[in-house]
Amino acid sequence: MAMFWKEMAGGLLLTLSLALLVRGAEGQGNGRDKKQVSGGATIYLGQDRDFWTPLIHTTVNLSDIRSIKSTFQLRTFDPEGAIFYGDTKDGLDWFVLSLKDGIPLMQISKGDVHVSVSGGPKLNDGKWHKLEVSNQGKFVVLEVDGSNGLVVGMQSEQTEEVLTGKLRLALGGILIDKEAMIVQFEPHLDGCVREGNWLNLSVPWDTEAEELWPCHQNVRPGSFFPGTGFAVFNTSVFPIEADRVVMAEFWGDFSKMDGTILSIRAPGQELMFALVANNTTEEVTLTFGEQRISVKDTLKKLAITFQADSLRVLQDEDESKTTSLSVGSESRPGYLNMWREGRLAVGGLLGDGEDDAGSQFLTGCLEKLQVQEKDLDLDLAVKHVSVSSHSCPA
Ligand SMILES: *[C@@H]1O[C@H](CO)[C@@H](O)[C@H](O)[C@H]1NC(C)=O
Ligand SMILES: *[C@@H]1O[C@H](CO)[C@@H](O)[C@H](O)[C@H]1NC(C)=O
Ligand SMILES: *[C@@H]1O[C@H](CO)[C@@H](O)[C@H](O)[C@H]1NC(C)=O
Ligand SMILES: *[C@@H]1O[C@H](CO)[C@@H](O)[C@H](O)[C@H]1NC(C)=O
Ligand SMILES: *[C@@H]1O[C@H](CO)[C@@H](O)[C@H](O)[C@H]1NC(C)=O
Repeated sequence: MAMFWKEMAGGLLLTLSLALLVRGAEGQGNGRDKKQVSGGATIYLGQDRDFWTPLIHTTVNLSDIRSIKSTFQLRTFDPEGAIFYGDTKDGLDWFVLSLKDGIPLMQISKGDVHVSVSGGPKLNDGKWHKLEVSNQGKFVVLEVDGSNGLVVGMQSEQTEEVLTGKLRLALGGILIDKEAMIVQFEPHLDGCVREGNWLNLSVPWDTEAEELWPCHQNVRPGSFFPGTGFAVFNTSVFPIEADRVVMAEFWGDFSKMDGTILSIRAPGQELMFALVANNTTEEVTLTFGEQRISVKDTLKKLAITFQADSLRVLQDEDESKTTSLSVGSESRPGYLNMWREGRLAVGGLLGDGEDDAGSQFLTGCLEKLQVQEKDLDLDLAVKHVSVSSHSCPA
C-alpha cells in the first residue's frame, strides 16, 4: 500500500507539472485584488508583459489533485514560445512545454533527473490542435490530435517522498530561472489556448494583467500592425558580411497597407532608406536618400536587392517589372554598412536617437518578411505592444 502511494505520488507530481493551469483558492485571501479567469477560457498568450512572466498562473494543494491528465487546444503560427509550466516544491521539480521550430519541446526536472525531449508534428500551422499531457506510470505522455506525440520515461534511484504541499501552474511563461532550462528558447508565443481542462480542477487562475487581450476568431499568418507602433531591430543581428549584397523580400496585399513598411538608418546619419505604402495614392514608394521609386500598390510581393552601387526592386517575381536605382558609390561609399551597423524598423519610420518613438506607423498585415531568405522574427525586435508578430486577423 505504501508502495502504491509512493508511485502514485511520483506519477502525480510529473503530471501535475505537466498539467498546467489551475488556480488555488487559497490565493484569494491574500489581500491583493487579482484578476481571475477560468482555466477553460480562451487565452491569448502573446499579450505584452515581462519576457518570461506567465500570463496566467494558479496554485493548488497537491492533496486536491485527483486526475493525472490535462487537455487543451493551441493555435499559433509562431514557431517558438512557452506554452505551459508546472512545478512542485517551489520550483525544485518542474515541467515546461514549449514550441521550438514549431515542434513540441518538453523539459522536465525531477530530483536528480533532468530531461528534454522534442518531437511530434509541427503545430504552428494556424489550426487548432488538441493537446493532452498525462502521466502513465513512469511515463509522461504528450498526445497531439489524438496520437502520441512524445513519450518520456523517467526513473530515479532516489526515494520518492509522499507528496504534500503545493502545485503551481502557469501559462505562457515559467516561474523559475530560465537558466534552469536544458534547451533555451525564446518564450514569447503569439498564439491562443482554449478549452483547457487542467487536472480536472475548477479553480480560477490569476493574472497580473489589467485586462486579458482577446484572441481573434480567425487568424492568418503574418505580422499585424494596427498603426500605433513598430518593431526595431539592431541590424547587427543580421548575419551580413561587409559589402555583401543584401536581399529583403516582402509579401502581402500592399493595396491594404498604409504607412511605413520598412526604414533603415545608419548610426549618426539621416534616414537612409524607407519603404512606404500609401492607400490614398495607391502606390508603394521606396526612398533612398533623395531618390525614389514608386510602383502601383496592386502587387503581392516586393523583393529589394541592395547592391554596392544600385538598388534593384522586383515586383511579383516578374523580371519585366524590375526597377533600379543607381546608388552613386562615391556619394554613398559603404552604404551597405547600414545593414550591419544601423537600426532597421518594420512598420514605422525611425527618427534619430536610440530611443525614438517612431512615426508614420503601418496599418495592415505584412504576410511575410525575409532578409537573406530567412524569415524575420519580430519577436526578436524591440516591438510595440500593439504589433502581433505571427498572426493577422482574418
Ligand atoms: C490547502 O491546504 C492548506 C493547508 O493544508 C489549507 O489551509 C488550504 O485551505 C488548502 N487550499 C485549498 C485550495 O484547498
Ligand atoms: C472531474 O471533476 C468532476 C466534477 O468536478 C467529477 O464529477 C469527476 O468525477 C472528476 N473526474 C475525475 C477523473 O476525477
Ligand atoms: C546594437 O548592437 C551593437 C553591437 O552588438 C551594440 O554595441 C549596440 O549597443 C546595440 N544597440 C542596441 C540599441 O541594442
Ligand atoms: C499618402 O499620400 C497622400 C497624398 O499625397 C499624403 O497626404 C499622405 O501623407 C500619404 N500617406 C503616407 C502614409 O505617406
Ligand atoms: C487606408 O488606410 C486607413 C488606415 O490608415 C484606413 O482607415 C482606410 O480604410 C484605408 N483605405 C483603403 C482604401 O484601404
